[in-house]
Amino acid sequence: MKSERASFGSKLGIILATAGSAVGLGNVWRFPYMAGEHGGGVYIIVYIACVLLLGIPCIVSEFVIGRRAASNTARAYGILSGGKPWMLVGLLGVLTGFLISGYYAVVSGWCLHYIYASVAGHLHGSPDFFAGYFSSFETNPWKPAFWTLLFMLITHLIIIRGIRGGIEKASKLMMPILFVLLIVIVVLSCMLPGAMEGVKFLFEPDFSKVDGSMFLGALGQAFFSLSIGMGCLCTYASYFSKDTDLMKSAAQIAFIDTVVAVLAGLMIFPAAFSVGISPDSGPSLVFITLPNVFQQAFSSMPAVGYVVSAAFYALLALAALTSIISMHEASTVFFEEECKLSRKRAATIVTVACSVIGLVCSMSLGGYDLLTVFGRTLFDVFDFFTGQIMLPVGGFLTCIFLGWFLPHKLVRDEFTNHGTLRGRLFGIYLFCVRYVCPVGILLIFLQQFGII
Ligand code: PHE
Repeated sequence: MKSERASFGSKLGIILATAGSAVGLGNVWRFPYMAGEHGGGVYIIVYIACVLLLGIPCIVSEFVIGRRAASNTARAYGILSGGKPWMLVGLLGVLTGFLISGYYAVVSGWCLHYIYASVAGHLHGSPDFFAGYFSSFETNPWKPAFWTLLFMLITHLIIIRGIRGGIEKASKLMMPILFVLLIVIVVLSCMLPGAMEGVKFLFEPDFSKVDGSMFLGALGQAFFSLSIGMGCLCTYASYFSKDTDLMKSAAQIAFIDTVVAVLAGLMIFPAAFSVGISPDSGPSLVFITLPNVFQQAFSSMPAVGYVVSAAFYALLALAALTSIISMHEASTVFFEEECKLSRKRAATIVTVACSVIGLVCSMSLGGYDLLTVFGRTLFDVFDFFTGQIMLPVGGFLTCIFLGWFLPHKLVRDEFTNHGTLRGRLFGIYLFCVRYVCPVGILLIFLQQFGII
């Protein structure tokens, strides 16, 4: 059965598909603002330290599990633990990805709509116009639903084409386009008058902001941004070849993800500061603040403004698409292998279920009381449970599984490709997985609940 398993066709495909999973909305709407607000250059250095000490070891751990077991994430944990309940940890990862894809699709759908709105010239008006435009769009029961479904359909069409013909091909096409769009907008943004203020906001170190919560914030961001704890990396690793250098691949993916996050800051802040608008984070940054920034920054050439705006949302949609593909794949291959379904059928189940979750989340923003829990919209509830509870729990248990449960020989064999490379790094890696990562993740978790 193992020999029939699909695989990526090239090293480049592996890197681009996995980096595609990592590069997502988090890089654009969260990282830049966190960096600017929490100490600029110092935050970036702390963030990079978190990526090195916690991020890369966790990525490698998921790679080890996925490649060794060569099966879907839930079964992978089951196989390696010899049938012990560790399978539940893998299942948790698959479930997390499944739930995240539902609401991630909603935001991705918003990006598609904003591409259309940019091109159609709808995004212009007074500064107050943009908040009104966004809120009337997001609370409309049908419009966001249409775009969410369209986004899920695109995802579906890629997934059913398989690993090489679908995911790898799409990543090889979409990731370069994403980089080009990013660089073009960075250059345009940095050429605006007064752009240096934005560059300073992002990079100027402010040591007074260094405190425990800044460290933990950086740790949490690194974790989310690298797609750790959801079975996506583990699933992709099950399609790696036996000679893939796991450590090197993890480092390359972390590098690409971090560069994109920093470039996103260079895309947003120079333009925002040039027109004197203070930036924020999350959906309001992307869908309210930035359309206004683009409009004002290119007021003398509105057509350029529309093109830049459309390019920005296209970039975001591509980033979201390559992330959602990885979550969809983790669930699809689970159903395919566990329920013995054809790939098409398994993908259809996942697409339909994620669409339903997406639609419910989207409608919950429209003020339907039925779709709120304790006064929070279902959208927020999903976001909270998946991002703040399920991801850290999954990541923590993965480190325990790998560092304390699996035989070291097995881990070493996989890490070093059976003794052929990176033997010296193994000790450092194992130390991080056994001690640094679990403690780090535990701290993030406790901090999110205000315990420390
Ligand atoms: N890493 C993605 C981002 O930065 C989000 C993500 C999390 C994607 C987990 C897949 C799995 O937006």
